Amino acid sequence: MLWVLLAITTFTYNIQQTASTCTHENNFGVYFIYCKNLNSLDEINLELYESNPIRVFVRNSSLALKRSRIFKGMFLKELEVTGSNISVIESNFLDTLQQLGTFTIGNSKINKLEPFPELKSLYHVKFFDNDVSHIPENWLEKLSRLYSATLINIKSDLKHLSLNMLKNTPVQYLKIHNVGLETLEPDSLHTLRKLVSLTLSNNNIKNLTNYVFKDLELLEELHLSGNQLSGFDKNVFVGLKKLKELDLSNNKFVNINSTWFEQLPSIHFIDIHSNNIKNVHIAVPSLKTLDLSDNELTELKDGLFTGVPALHFLDVSSNLITHISSDAFKEVYNLEILNLEGNYISKLNGDVYRHFSNLTCLALSYNKITDLSAIEFDHLESLLSLNLSHNNIEKLPKNAFTKLYSLEELDLHKTLLTNIKAEMFYGLKRLQVLNLSGNQLKMIVPGTFKEMPALQVLNIGSVLVSSLKPDTFAGLSNLKMLDLTNNSIVDLPEGLLRYSKFTLISLRRNKIQHLNASIFVNQTEMEELDLRSTRIESLDLVEEMPNLRYLLLKDTKFEKQNIIFFKEVTFRKINEDYWDSWCPEFIPECKRD
Ligand SMILES: *[C@@H]1O[C@H](CO)[C@@H](O)[C@H](O)[C@H]1NC(C)=O
Ligand SMILES: *[C@@H]1O[C@H](CO)[C@@H](O)[C@H](O)[C@H]1NC(C)=O
Ligand SMILES: *[C@@H]1O[C@H](CO)[C@@H](O)[C@H](O)[C@H]1NC(C)=O
Ligand SMILES: *[C@@H]1O[C@H](CO)[C@@H](O)[C@H](O)[C@H]1NC(C)=O
Ligand SMILES: *[C@@H]1O[C@H](CO)[C@@H](O)[C@H](O)[C@H]1NC(C)=O
Ligand SMILES: *[C@@H]1O[C@H](CO)[C@@H](O)[C@H](O)[C@H]1NC(C)=O
Ligand SMILES: *[C@@H]1O[C@H](CO)[C@@H](O)[C@H](O)[C@H]1NC(C)=O
Ligand SMILES: *[C@@H]1O[C@H](CO)[C@@H](O)[C@H](O)[C@H]1NC(C)=O
Ligand SMILES: *[C@@H]1O[C@H](CO)[C@@H](O)[C@H](O)[C@H]1NC(C)=O
Ligand SMILES: *[C@@H]1O[C@H](CO)[C@@H](O)[C@H](O)[C@H]1NC(C)=O
Repeated sequence: MLWVLLAITTFTYNIQQTASTCTHENNFGVYFIYCKNLNSLDEINLELYESNPIRVFVRNSSLALKRSRIFKGMFLKELEVTGSNISVIESNFLDTLQQLGTFTIGNSKINKLEPFPELKSLYHVKFFDNDVSHIPENWLEKLSRLYSATLINIKSDLKHLSLNMLKNTPVQYLKIHNVGLETLEPDSLHTLRKLVSLTLSNNNIKNLTNYVFKDLELLEELHLSGNQLSGFDKNVFVGLKKLKELDLSNNKFVNINSTWFEQLPSIHFIDIHSNNIKNVHIAVPSLKTLDLSDNELTELKDGLFTGVPALHFLDVSSNLITHISSDAFKEVYNLEILNLEGNYISKLNGDVYRHFSNLTCLALSYNKITDLSAIEFDHLESLLSLNLSHNNIEKLPKNAFTKLYSLEELDLHKTLLTNIKAEMFYGLKRLQVLNLSGNQLKMIVPGTFKEMPALQVLNIGSVLVSSLKPDTFAGLSNLKMLDLTNNSIVDLPEGLLRYSKFTLISLRRNKIQHLNASIFVNQTEMEELDLRSTRIESLDLVEEMPNLRYLLLKDTKFEKQNIIFFKEVTFRKINEDYWDSWCPEFIPECKRD
């Protein structure tokens, strides 16, 4: 919503003050009226808008929404009242709003609700952050065009929600979040046949009755996260023929029973993260994505996933997994992404992967890997991304990654490496991104990277290097981004950058004081140079980089200069970190004398 408003605001004109309390904008013929400190809607000067449509946004006001001779709502398309004190919303006031499309009340102390009258244009109703003592049974029932209804953070008597309040409405999106709901009455949903998305998150639902969703033939998304659910009967989901996404995260599940999802022929995505799951028996032939992260699985046993043969994406991060059996993924031929981050894995048998040939992404960060030779990379010919960050590997064996000949991205951040050599990276002909940051390398021997000619992004931040040899990047003709953040580099040697055309270099938090401009000769593609937290004395080097767009100068001796003039170019400070070379002369500050 906000970005829509912002985008529109950019194209507005005619912003002006009306009464002391309201301002308005004309957005292509629709007036957006923003008011605060109102005591009545009558204070809005409607004469200004003649018969143009209006959208009214009220905040910090104290008012009654009552019928009035002065405020006529004929042209009101939207009414939003937030952060206010609304003493009453009268239904004969609403009655006058025959063009109202969106009605939002938030944090406005509204205590009593009356049923809405018939409003043929009302599509969206949203109530949030209110204590409402009573929600009438037939509250929204007359809204014959209702498209979305949202209730968030409401204390009420809604415990046993009878969704009769929406009876026979054509509502498609219904969200009831954190309203204290405990049970769903068996018939409460049966007239909502148009529903596409149903969210009942952060309530206190402990159990779902069989067949409760049976009439929701069009439902595609069901969000039940943040409740007290611990199990189902398989008949709970009967009727949900089109359901694609089911969110059961943050509940109390300990086991998953293979019968639960039998009635969901179209389901693609099940999210059960953040439960206490120890055992999984799952059989869902159509399932493509399964999120089991943040549970209590200790091992992945043989055949565990044979019931989900179409799985593409499996997330079992943040469990207690120590062991994966060779046949855990038997019959899961299509797996592409496997997230094993944050477990206790120290060994992996290469056979584990023999069942699928399309794995592209394997995440093993935050495990207990100390010896990389215990992690086998057989059968991973298609792997594009491997993340080993935050392990205690210490040493990379020679030829560690030769079997990963498709690999494009390798993350070795904080793996306690102290020594790297070219031979360790042998075979990584396609590698584009390498992260070695946070290791104690101390020095980098020229030629270390020569086996990775496709490298585009190299992160060697926080590796305790104090100097670099001119030939460090020999052979890396595709290198574009170089991150040297947080080392103790004093100076860059002549010729260091000559092997490649860079677009981005970070020298942040180094001891850089002088940089000879000649180092940047021919760096015609540089876009961004990060010199934050350095002692850089002179910026002459900018003259060598005709296409440089941004300089980052926070925490340097230049940080107080809003404008920096060079021979050909002017940089203008646009925020705390960035100086932008887009500084046309029509901006007064950018004008040269
Ligand atoms: C909100 O309204 C109160 C009372 O009318 C006023 O004292 C206060 O300054 C207003 N706050 C803002 C942010 O407009
Ligand atoms: C809200 O408005 C009512 C009626 O105008 C008033 O009695 C009440 O004190 C107000 N509440 C607050 C918190 O301002
Ligand atoms: C849930 O409800 C069903 C039927 O109403 C009942 O058989 C089952 O025992 C209940 N389960 C729990 C955990 O309360
Ligand atoms: C799954 O639930 C069915 C029916 O409640 C039960 O008979 C079966 O034993 C359960 N299976 C497992 C593995 O818990
Ligand atoms: C691997 O992916 C390709 C293309 O995405 C597909 O044609 C092939 O069937 C997949 N192989 C397996 C074993 O799933
Ligand atoms: C590797 O995993 C860490 C931890 O989740 C994450 O911060 C990092 O961005 C990942 N690396 C890549 C290249 O995605
Ligand atoms: C390592 O660096 C790469 C490239 O700069 C980045 O994408 C990745 O997130 C970094 N990894 C961690 C763990 O910060
Ligand atoms: C900078 O590097 C040192 C040494 O590697 C490390 O201890 C420190 O955490 C790093 N600081 C930041 C902000 O990355
Ligand atoms: C810059 O490029 C020119 C033309 O390609 C080349 O002759 C010269 O040696 C280069 N200079 C450096 C320092 O790389
Ligand atoms: C910068 O480098 C050039 C070429 O190597 C050299 O002639 C010049 O003296 C250097 N300037 C400074 C200030 O070190």
